[in-house]
Amino acid sequence: MVSEIVDTTDEWITSRTGIKTRYVSTTETLLDLAVEASKKALASAGIESKDLDMIICSTIKGDYVTPSMACLIQRDIEAKCPSFDFNAACSGFVYGLDMADAYIRAGKAETILLVSAEAMTRHIDWTDRATCVLFGDGAGAVVLKKGDGLRSIKITAKGDDKLLVIGSVFSPSPFAKQPQIDPAFRMNGGEVFKFAVSSVIKDVKQVMKEAGVEAKDIAMMVPHQANLRVFQAARDKLGFTDEQIANGIDHYGNTSSASIPLLLDELMEQGRLVKGDLIVLTAFGGGLTTGACVIKL
Ligand code: UT7
Repeated sequence: MVSEIVDTTDEWITSRTGIKTRYVSTTETLLDLAVEASKKALASAGIESKDLDMIICSTIKGDYVTPSMACLIQRDIEAKCPSFDFNAACSGFVYGLDMADAYIRAGKAETILLVSAEAMTRHIDWTDRATCVLFGDGAGAVVLKKGDGLRSIKITAKGDDKLLVIGSVFSPSPFAKQPQIDPAFRMNGGEVFKFAVSSVIKDVKQVMKEAGVEAKDIAMMVPHQANLRVFQAARDKLGFTDEQIANGIDHYGNTSSASIPLLLDELMEQGRLVKGDLIVLTAFGGGLTTGACVIKL
């Protein structure tokens, strides 16, 4: 119980965020989660790992600085293709879709495994009640191939290290003159909340306009799971009903870039999303980055 660690209550967490439960890796490495998600994605796509042309992994920090998560996923699923990580924080999955789309359109790859793997609970200050109640660990993956499913996509960045930051720890050096950097997750929650709501509204309106679709055409909007209240605040401005907005924050918490693919997998498995559905994805987070897209499944 987190209320035994910091001064908080289930009532506060549920009413302010929508979170009820989340997963914290204890014995698993982040690679364990990423490899399991990758194997599941390959099996459900009916693709063999030897047929992958590229593995891209979004993560704010893998198990190592180097090798990348993607290289170790490649080893463990026995693929033979270029593999690399990138960091677009919570917007990583949408950034990854945009990147994969560019490689496929350029003819440089036909089949790409996109993995989002995040161990956010490693970066939390477990004495800071404002943030330690928010995050969970997880990984999700998709296999991407040439097609006309991606109807529109947008990614943005606005450089900022004041509102949301996680510092790095470096090896001690006799030459370093910089002060020690705080390695824990720090966030100005209120300002990030405002940024999130305005970005979701702006980005989703733009990608829906570009795709020529309206709210009534969308089976579901699958947002990055940071706070239930962000989507409630954006819902009316976008013309969605509650039923059209996917919610996984109650059982996953905030898993950064893994939150969208984790939820997509669950919705497909439950039959709540089916082939042919139009969906909107929207994400926002550290950087500050944002991304949104319209996809026909
Ligand atoms: O995924 C990356 C992007 N991240 C986000 O989008 C997060 C966006 N921000 C948020 O979701 C919300 O700002 C939070 C959930 C982080 C915080 O919710 P809030 O409604 O903005 O709360 P607050 O920070 O304004 O704090 C309100 C009160 C304060 O007490 P006082 O000053 O009013 O007496 C806090 O000290 O709630 C207190 N508080 C808590 N109380 C019990 C803060 N954290 C807790 C807690 N338990 N865990």
